[in-house]
Order: sequence, then C-alpha cells, then structure tokens
Amino acid sequence: MPKVFVTRKIPQAGLDLLKGVDFSVWEEDRVIPREVLLERVKGMDAILSLLTDKIDGEVMDAAGLPSPDASGRGPDIRSSGLKLISNYAVGYDNIDVPAATQRKIFVSNTPGVLTEAVAEHAFALLLAIARRIPESDQFTRQGKYKGWEPELLLGTELQGKVLGVVGLGRIGSRVAEMANKGMGMKVLYHDPKQDAAFEKEYGAVYKGNLDDLLKEADFVSIHVPLLPATRHLINAEKLALMKKSAYLINTSRGPIVDEAALVEALKAGIIKGAALDVFENEPNLSPGLAELPNVVLTPHTASATHEARGAMAVLAAQAVLDVLAGKPPVNLVNK
Ligand code: GLV
Ligand code: GLV
Repeated sequence: MPKVFVTRKIPQAGLDLLKGVDFSVWEEDRVIPREVLLERVKGMDAILSLLTDKIDGEVMDAAGLPSPDASGRGPDIRSSGLKLISNYAVGYDNIDVPAATQRKIFVSNTPGVLTEAVAEHAFALLLAIARRIPESDQFTRQGKYKGWEPELLLGTELQGKVLGVVGLGRIGSRVAEMANKGMGMKVLYHDPKQDAAFEKEYGAVYKGNLDDLLKEADFVSIHVPLLPATRHLINAEKLALMKKSAYLINTSRGPIVDEAALVEALKAGIIKGAALDVFENEPNLSPGLAELPNVVLTPHTASATHEARGAMAVLAAQAVLDVLAGKPPVNLVNK
C-alpha cells in the first residue's frame, strides 16, 4: 500500500480523506525537526507538508531513490519513490520546486479556498491599524478610560482614501473589491499584468511602476508570492517614497518587507503605521517591532478560519489521493 507522511496534525476533514491509505502524522504538535523529517519521509510515496517545513532536494532524496530523468520531462507518475509534495498552503516558497521537477515529483498547493479568509484578515488588519483597535483595547482594559474625550485615540477614515494593492492575484483582487465596493476607497494596483475588466469594475488604476503606487497610496497591502524578485521588494528606499500618513499591510510573506528597515521607518515617522501577519524570520520579530505603538501584529493567522483551514486540509489530502490514483493533482505547481 502507498505510504503517506503528514508532517503535523491538520484539520480532521483532511485526515479522514486519507483513511484508505497508509498514512502517518508526526505525533508532536510543533514544527517537525529537520532530522526527524529526514528520517520519517523514508519510503514515502507522498508528503503532506506545511509552510514551516523546508522541503529541499535533501528531503526528497531521503524519501526515496531519485528517479533518473533521462527524458528531461516534468513530473510524471513513477512506480516507486516520492511522487508528491502536497503543501497545506497557497504559498510554496518553502519547497525547492525546481529540485522536485528535476526528480519528477509533483508539487501541489491549496489556492482558492483561503482567498476569502486572507482577504478578510488583510481588511481586519487595515481597519485595526486605521482605527487603532488593539491600542484602544489595551487602553480600555488597563483602566485608562476615565471618560469621553473630544480627541481621544483619533484614527483615519477609509472612505475616499487610496488603497494600493501590490499583486493582483485572487487575494489582492478580493481586498480591492472589499475596499472599493464596501468602503468607497480608490484602488491602485501593481502587477505584472494589467487587467482592463478589473479596472472597469472597481475604477482601479494600474501602476506599472511600483514607486508610483507607493507615492500615492494611503494604505499599501501586499499580495505577492515570495520569489527572488520580491524579496525585500519593500525596503528603506521604497518606504521613503510612501506618504508620511500611509500604512503598510502585509499578509503575504515576511521577507517581502525589509523588517529592520520598516522598524526604522516606523520609529522615524517615515510612514504612520503597519499591520503585519507575517515576519521576516518567523516566529521571531525584528528588535523593536513589538515595542512600537503604531503596529498591529498577528501570528501568521490570515488563513486561520475553520472554513479555510478545513478546506485546505481537504484539498491537500485530495491531491494525495489523486496522485496515488495515477492522476496529476488539480492544483499542480510544477506543470
Ligand atoms: C499561508 O500563508 C499560505 O500560504 O497558505
Ligand atoms: C492566492 O490565492 C492569490 O492568488 O492571491
């Protein structure tokens, strides 16, 4: 029977789907240590991985004999050895995809089902930083509220303000829709591709040059994948282009923002605030970040709804079943 290794407990709906195959789940509820991962993947036909697992050529080779790739073709069904890395995430920067392709191993992800959750979280962060919700909550809990005041904890309204969406994928588009249709915000977007239908629907304006978006936006929300070209896309120089009154929201991947530069910019008043769900060296935070009053921080929970995480588990498990049945996964990353 084919063997499947799940690197950490995922929602039960996904595990239930795997009932018919020989699967095991790492028993401890923490990130699997590298040496345990290398040991446990031995002889597996599929690995169901998390974004906290670094899956590189060494892990792939530890799983089984790499098949010779004389044909030079992409992933293919092989009779033995590792066939699939099914990532329980939409982002797959934790996987060395070229190394998988070279070894004819499929890589799949879980797009679509977490779009709503992540977009809603990005919007929750946007509102939280604009209206100073965590700061106000602390103020109230700490007994500092002594009575209504004319200028207590003033924030920023969204209507008529400019949202700059960096990366117009599913999530970026949904955030733009919420901003425009829900809050009456103006939308600018930066993406490799221009989208005329999107522009018409949301009155959105394309900014081929990221700098132009950064100069004009009151809120900048990042929705690009982590790639060599997007690492430190937002650095000190880019932050300096932003309005002093602007806010940065990041629900994508931490290393897209130079976090040390962001801390400096927030301290120096280069921008007004930031709301972050992802960090450059998760779970560690850059020195000084957590002490700043003008930030809102969440622990990479943008997709953490019962709905999204359950559906992600089902998609990730279904990819395993598909590949074991000889079919490529629906959400194949390395086509
Ligand atoms: C979460 O960060 C994901 O990529 O699914
Ligand atoms: C991810 O689902 C995206 O396309 O934004």
